[in-house]
Amino acid sequence: MKVLVIGGGGREHALSWRLKNDPQVSAVFAAPGNPGIAADGISCLELKTHEATVAFARAEKIDLVVIGPEIPLCAGLGDDLRAAGFPVFGPGAKGAQLEGSKAFAKDFMVRHGIPTAASGTFDDEASALAFIAKNGAPIVVKADGLAAGKGVTVAMTEDEAVAAVKDCFAGAFGAAGHRVLIEEFLDGEEASLFALCDGETILHLATAQDHKRVGDGDTGPNTGGMGTYSPAPVCDAAVDAICEREVLSRFLAGLKADGLEFRGVIFIGLMIGSKGVRLLEFNVRFGDPETQSLMMRWKSGMADALLKTATGKLKDAKPVFSDEPAVCVVLASGGYPGDYAKGFPISGLEAAAATGAKVFHAGTALKDGQIVNTGGRVLGVTASAPTVRQALDIAYRGVDKISWQGAFCRRDIAWRSLAREK
Ligand code: AMP
Ligand code: GLY
Repeated sequence: MKVLVIGGGGREHALSWRLKNDPQVSAVFAAPGNPGIAADGISCLELKTHEATVAFARAEKIDLVVIGPEIPLCAGLGDDLRAAGFPVFGPGAKGAQLEGSKAFAKDFMVRHGIPTAASGTFDDEASALAFIAKNGAPIVVKADGLAAGKGVTVAMTEDEAVAAVKDCFAGAFGAAGHRVLIEEFLDGEEASLFALCDGETILHLATAQDHKRVGDGDTGPNTGGMGTYSPAPVCDAAVDAICEREVLSRFLAGLKADGLEFRGVIFIGLMIGSKGVRLLEFNVRFGDPETQSLMMRWKSGMADALLKTATGKLKDAKPVFSDEPAVCVVLASGGYPGDYAKGFPISGLEAAAATGAKVFHAGTALKDGQIVNTGGRVLGVTASAPTVRQALDIAYRGVDKISWQGAFCRRDIAWRSLAREK
């Protein structure tokens, strides 16, 4: 099987690395890929348009296209590839609205009985402000469209909520903020659930937990994710049973009732707390950096499961995951998630790999023969072992070999899981 992976972040490094090691796969290409992907012997290339992507898939006789990020999914790359006859892992533009519009997703959840926070959707500032005045704080303000993870404000005071609404309508998130969703604050512990879905079958794959805040102890501003571990122990058998009954089966029934096509992974953001299990959001792709942990645990049947999802035969797939936990520690550029300096040479990558950790690249580039930092989140140092403690020891040994000017990471990844392990 020849596979084309679309994207060039840490998630795509993890996906293409796992696919390359799958005995069913003869070749993997990544577009645009990154220097870490290339160093794993995977061909990276630029495909700037949908037409160029289709032409490449034809020329190389690609058997499966795996689309990593939400932006090409929402832009309909899946539709264009499918129209040209290629099996695609990832929904078309319509299905991608489940992530691309929070109002669309909320409407889907409510109509199909999926438990979620009570909310209102507003197209003008005055009615949004009136809703806040009526409901008070804490309250959560969300820009409707894609905002690279920055469009959500969990407001602990009414003033914060008012400011967030004003920002949205003033254009802080461009067109994504011209409609806002305001919802009830939910307390509890967050977890991510990943399920494959081809429109006929839904298959619970694995769970993970992210660390969204930049600082140890879950402090400081939100980021795209500073580290993950899988599985998420908060998703015990009782929570899993609720998810199967109230989330996954209702999601599948909702797709069918709405005639909404969906072939890919549905990544469900859960809040588990005093109100029970509630959905925060849908994403229509694998998580980043959750995938880095997941791929350490996916032992066999990955290419087959993705192809079967893409071709409507998911019921026959048999993906095998290891019970051993995996962790991923993100190394970021100094200043992230604010402004950061880039272009600094990164040292110690080989020494880190020698510790047994797998280093996934996210924001790196090759400059004059040197790997340098180019993004906010730069590397994901990942390991699996019989216990979370052991996996963390390997990952942090890897982290400690790597340096560049300003590099930093959180030192408390997986603290919840460690506390439970004790
Ligand atoms: P979302 O993109 O909708 O997942 O929101 C981003 C983050 O905001 C989530 O991961 C939560 O940490 C937080 N969040 C979103 N919705 C709520 C809510 N209703 N109550 C509390 N926190 C929330
Ligand atoms: N790590 C969160 C996300 O991928 O959306």
